[in-house]
Amino acid sequence: MEKRHPARPLSKNPHLLRWVEKMVALCQPEALHWVDGSQAEYEDLCAQLVAKGTFTKLNPQKWPGCYYARSDASDVARVEDRTYICSQSKDAAGPTNNWVNPYEMKKTLRGLFSGCMRGRTMYVLAYSMGPIGSPMSQIGVQLTDSAYVVVNTRIMARLGQRVFDLIDEDFKRVVPCMHSVGRPLAKGQADVAWPCNQEKYIVHFPETREIWSFGSGYGGNALLGKKCFALRIASAMARDEGWMAEHMLILGVENPQGEKTYVAAAFPSACGKTNFAMLIPPKSLARKGWKVWTVGDDIAWIKPGADGRLHAINPEAGFFGVAPGTSHSTNPNAMASLARNTIFTNVALTPDGGVWWEGMTGEAPAECLDWQGKRWTPEMALQTGAKAAHANSRFTAPASQCPTIDPDWEKPEGVPISAFIFGGRRATTMPLIFQAFNWSSGVYVGATMGSEMTAAAAGTIGKVRRDPFAMLPFCGYHMGDYFRHWINMQRSLTETPRIFHVNWFRKDKEGKFMWPGFSENMRVLKWIVDRAKGGGRAKETPIGWQPHYEDLDWEGMDFPREKFDELQAFDRAAWRAEVLGHEELFIDLHAHLPKELMFERELLICRM
Ligand code: GTP
Ligand code: SPV
Ligand code: MN
Repeated sequence: MEKRHPARPLSKNPHLLRWVEKMVALCQPEALHWVDGSQAEYEDLCAQLVAKGTFTKLNPQKWPGCYYARSDASDVARVEDRTYICSQSKDAAGPTNNWVNPYEMKKTLRGLFSGCMRGRTMYVLAYSMGPIGSPMSQIGVQLTDSAYVVVNTRIMARLGQRVFDLIDEDFKRVVPCMHSVGRPLAKGQADVAWPCNQEKYIVHFPETREIWSFGSGYGGNALLGKKCFALRIASAMARDEGWMAEHMLILGVENPQGEKTYVAAAFPSACGKTNFAMLIPPKSLARKGWKVWTVGDDIAWIKPGADGRLHAINPEAGFFGVAPGTSHSTNPNAMASLARNTIFTNVALTPDGGVWWEGMTGEAPAECLDWQGKRWTPEMALQTGAKAAHANSRFTAPASQCPTIDPDWEKPEGVPISAFIFGGRRATTMPLIFQAFNWSSGVYVGATMGSEMTAAAAGTIGKVRRDPFAMLPFCGYHMGDYFRHWINMQRSLTETPRIFHVNWFRKDKEGKFMWPGFSENMRVLKWIVDRAKGGGRAKETPIGWQPHYEDLDWEGMDFPREKFDELQAFDRAAWRAEVLGHEELFIDLHAHLPKELMFERELLICRM
């Protein structure tokens, strides 16, 4: 078969063709490549990335189909202070988002993008967020000068010719996404392995539904279908159209009778979504017939169905997961998912052409190259504390490779959601588990969530910040209006999901985690599912319903009652400070804050 010339358009849509032409004129790339999404094209691009030094092909005996990349040391995480929501009015973006007047920002962007792709190829990447043809799916076209982004997106989303066909057949609105690493090449100038620009702009126009990203090639800054589209732009679409775009995993719990109950959980970045989504029940519960199925690990699009219940799809097709801490003992499903056809970024490279990261194995390799390409040994690490893998190093793996992927994970109408779970990384105050009294108190729990900051975003690690619904960095409009949208969503339902809060990260006086987490989280999940189905015992406390010690299934686990009581303790003094923290957030949002939440706060104070 004759090889297609990549510059030949794969779409006949006149709007798309004109836009591409205009953007070529602006960015002045050396070449144009319409991405067809084929395996051959993928392999070609990977080979080119190897030739350029961006990729190292891993040992095919040990890591079939896998590649390794190291980013620039300045381009390792989302940059929240360089992320903008440019709505017409500042008030529409709200105080928790960076706002710039859209006309001014467009001017800045035109300057930045002018000639920014010189010496590079512009790829035309059409992708579907959500299964092709699902009524809940949305389409984007990203123009990018990064082949790394193209191959990662091929794992993370459905892309290529079949999406161009959709655009041609039945013209759905397309979200235009501009992306450049911001490093044009002069004639004859040599490229670097990880081109990027010190100046970064991650910009969203929620009203015109456009994304412009400049200067970064990493993760959520550059794979624009993920946080930029599926959360920031989609949250604005969802508010207008009566659905929800959430930073949530989706999983299904199968009970011994073979009935499945789906739940969705919002934890902030690097707080355990991937791990929870792939949970394997402890032997004692697995033996009785409990099983967990994975639908998604990061984002959920949720819509009321004709049955009066909420239904969710995972808009992604892959996992962009945190590597450190992932092991055969903590998350065997993730290890199986990333065993082949995976791209690793910023982990360590072992001498036998494999990868390693802290926590992957009990024992570190005798030596390896760290995420910056420097020699690393466990002895050196003992002295300097240097990590072989960056704390936000990640794997990009196909979801279809997950052994527990739910048979319905690509069902066009999604799966019915029976419970929402909120949680964060909290060393103090927050108990292992409680259930909110009802929908509005549950919305209060989500709205006032707090979590210690992690390496997923540039910033101060470990500081507790309010992160409502784990959406603080991802909501494309005013957070107060987003709370209102949550309150309103319940009105279109005849069956309301129950709402819960968990904390796997409470610490004792010695600073050790009090709860073993991971697989043992199944005991908490089982109680949640029982409660969501209208069963399960609980006691009333000032903050919500909590299980008695006897209400959790402890078979096969030795966890004494006193430890459980400590883990579940309601500390009045700590909660006083907690509620003052809620008030600080509410003051910032006051003009848009739903009344229900002020009342909920008063009720909480009264109960305390
Ligand atoms: P993003 O992809 O950034 O949205 O992160 P995520 O929410 O999917 O977090 P992930 O599951 O990747 O976990 C992040 C870190 O938390 C990893 O280092 C895990 O090992 C650790 N972790 C996850 N679950 C638990 C748990 O139950 N207990 C403890 N102690 N650590 C956990
Ligand atoms: C997160 O930070 O929540 C992630 C990683 O899932 S990124 O795609 O970089 O946003
Ligand atoms: Mn995430």
